[in-house]
Amino acid sequence: MVDFMGMMKQAAELKSKMEAMQAELDNTEVEGVSGGGMVSIKLSGKGEMKSVRIDESLIKPSDREILEDLIAQRKADAFFTCGSNRLLKLMQRLGKKHGIPGQVAMEQIMVCGFGACYVCMRTFEVDGQRVLRRVCRDGPVFNMQEAVGW
Ligand code: FES
Repeated sequence: MVDFMGMMKQAAELKSKMEAMQAELDNTEVEGVSGGGMVSIKLSGKGEMKSVRIDESLIKPSDREILEDLIAQRKADAFFTCGSNRLLKLMQRLGKKHGIPGQVAMEQIMVCGFGACYVCMRTFEVDGQRVLRRVCRDGPVFNMQEAVGW
């Protein structure tokens, strides 16, 4: 014989546990840090942005609060990054997801510095085609979405 009362009690307990877990997620805060702690972003357990902190040494102090507020309010209209492949991939993913364009300043070993030796080549993907570009002559700043990581 089916114990409907027992099942109803279990369903109520499960619902209560789910609500408690949802509340716990609301109160959970996750922090991502990059650049040796120079930039950090805090998200709720549900992925909602809580705050952005950018070290004062990276930007003018007067601009920091404005920039952090714009990102937190999802009013960023462009991303810019350099150096870290991991950060490039993150910014590409966020840019694609939110339709925000961006640029990456690339670092590369150079010999001539004016486009003759081809030592500084990097790979890009343009309209589905892989192309090589010289960082010294064609960059060093490129469309973030075209850059292929390293
Ligand atoms: S450093 Fe020689 S081509 Fe870029």
